[in-house]
Amino acid sequence: MPIPKRVGIVGYGHLGQFLEAAISKREDLEVAFIWNRSPGALSHLDQRLVCHDLTDFASFSPDLVVEVAHPDVSKQYGALFLKEADYLVGSPTALADAELEASLRTVAQSGTRGLYLPAGALWGSMDLRKMADLGTLQGLKITMKKHPSSFKLKSPLKELNDGVSGSAVTLYDGPVRGLCPLAPNNVNTMAAAAVAAHNLGFDGVNGCLISDPALTDRHIVLVEAEGKGGFRVCTERVNPAAVGAVTGNATYNSFLSSVVAAGAMGPGVHLC
Ligand SMILES: NC(=O)c1ccc[n+]([C@@H]2O[C@H](COP(=O)([O-])OP(=O)(O)OC[C@H]3O[C@@H](n4cnc5c(N)ncnc54)[C@H](O)[C@@H]3O)[C@@H](O)[C@H]2O)c1
Repeated sequence: MPIPKRVGIVGYGHLGQFLEAAISKREDLEVAFIWNRSPGALSHLDQRLVCHDLTDFASFSPDLVVEVAHPDVSKQYGALFLKEADYLVGSPTALADAELEASLRTVAQSGTRGLYLPAGALWGSMDLRKMADLGTLQGLKITMKKHPSSFKLKSPLKELNDGVSGSAVTLYDGPVRGLCPLAPNNVNTMAAAAVAAHNLGFDGVNGCLISDPALTDRHIVLVEAEGKGGFRVCTERVNPAAVGAVTGNATYNSFLSSVVAAGAMGPGVHLC
C-alpha cells in the first residue's frame, strides 16, 4: 500500500471540516495537523493533530499544507509553508496582490516544493493554461451568477447587492484584479483563471459578477475564451447549491480532487 500523503489543514470552517472528514475515509491521505484561528472549534479532535502555532507547522511533518481559511494566511505564511511542504492555496484571490503573487512564484520556482491552485469551479483550466503557455489565448471572461444571499462582499459591492430584489443586477464587470479584494470569498474561480491564463493575468482576465434572485438552487459559471483567428470556446457550469451557500456542492468534491492531485508536479506554480 502506498504511504499516505500527510495533509496539514489550515482553517476549520465548511471546507476544512469537509476535508478532515473526507481525508479520514481515504487510504492515500492522512491528516498531519489542523489549525484554526479559534482553537475552541478543535476541542473535539485528537489533540495530537491540533497545531496551536502555525510557525510550528513543520514539526507535524506535512507533505502538503492546504489553506482553507482566508486569503491573508498566504500573505503571512505562504512562503514559510513552501520552504517545508507543497502548498495548496484554497483562497487564490490572495494572488491578486501582485507583490504576493511574485514572491510566492519566486519561492515556488527556486525551491523544491510546488505552489498549487485548485481549479475550483473553473471548467477547462488546463486548456486555458496550454493556450496561455503558447501565447494563443487572446481574451478570457469569467461570469459568475449567484443568488444575492450567496455573496460575501465588501463595500461598495455589498451595498449594491443588498439592494437587489426582483431582477438580476451586474455587480462588477472589469479586470479580476479589482474584483478580488471586493469579493475575496466568491471569486476564487476567477483568480484561478487569472493564474491559468498567465499571459493575460489578473489585469487581462475579465470578471463579471451577477446577483440574481432567481437562482435559488444553483450557481452558474460561464467561461468565454478567445484565441487567434476567430477561435472561441464558451462553457456554462451549472452547480446545484442551496440558497445562501457560498460554495456549490460539486466544488467541494473538486477541491478534494485538488488535494489528491497536489504535490505530484514538483517545484513551480500549478493548477490542479
Ligand atoms: N478554491 C475554491 O474552490 C474554494 C471553495 C470554497 C471556499 N474557498 C475559500 O476557502 C476559504 C474557506 O472557505 P469556507 O467555506 O470553509 O469558509 P468558512 O467561513 O466556513 O471558514 C473559514 C475559516 O477560517 C477562519 N478565518 C476567517 N478569517 C480568517 C483569517 N483572517 N485568518 C485566519 N483564519 C480565518 C474562520 O474562523 C473559519 O474557521 C475561503 O477563503 C473561501 O473563499 C475556496
